[in-house]
Amino acid sequence: MNIIFLGPPGSGKGTQAKILTEKFGIPQISTGDMLREHVGKGTDLGLKAKEYMEKGQLVPDEIILDMVKERLSESDAQKGFILDGFPRTVAQAEALDKILDSVGKKIEYVLALIVPDEELIIRLTGRRTCKNCGMMYHIKFKPPKEEGKCDACGGELYQRPDDNEETVKNRLKVYHQQTAPLIEYYKNKRILFEVDGSKSIEEITQQLLQILEKK
Ligand code: AP5
Repeated sequence: MNIIFLGPPGSGKGTQAKILTEKFGIPQISTGDMLREHVGKGTDLGLKAKEYMEKGQLVPDEIILDMVKERLSESDAQKGFILDGFPRTVAQAEALDKILDSVGKKIEYVLALIVPDEELIIRLTGRRTCKNCGMMYHIKFKPPKEEGKCDACGGELYQRPDDNEETVKNRLKVYHQQTAPLIEYYKNKRILFEVDGSKSIEEITQQLLQILEKK
């Protein structure tokens, strides 16, 4: 099963991708997580990406495409994958089509999460993530049992540097200008499935499973 999660920052792509990964046994490939790993390790790629990420801008396509191409060739991605946060521009989507064509694969589902901007600002400014296992929380909607501590592994929770209100607003602007046109791109290919992302995490998972299990 080859899936893309499409949606604005904070729409729940990562939250839902993690649930589906467990359910279907296929990897979540998050370009945001991959970039943050590079930033954390201080690699050349990470140093370049950091400048863009801190401002809420997109990292240049050439950096992203090499990274994704390499990741898709790894053995765990051969029986399916969930792309989270990629593609983000029409140019990236066209490049992805070419990469997959060359190995005889294609995307089967583009799951688009629709959430109003006002809700996204609340979600992102309240998000906390575990430094150790990446588990996500929200100070209001999904608080940890003990403040600042991950329920799953006890790791320390932190706030992403790009989750402050000013950067979030810029990320939303960039989404509407550069990523939203992908809705039309995948509608034309008849593989787009729109889901109301403003419901509860559990309700959204149910809607997604209905789509994926129908085919
Ligand atoms: P990336 O890490 O991909 O961030 P994003 O797309 O902005 O998405 P987020 O991770 O912020 O949100 P999400 O939709 O995954 O929501 P989540 O599940 O966490 O990218 C970061 C940066 O990297 C970009 O700005 C760019 O610079 C660069 N980059 C990455 N990919 C790139 C690419 N392809 N090209 C160029 N540059 C790229 O949920 C958010 C919060 O809401 C959590 O607290 C969660 O608990 C809560 N929540 C989730 N669902 C619900 C719900 N239903 N109800 C209530 N709360 C909910």
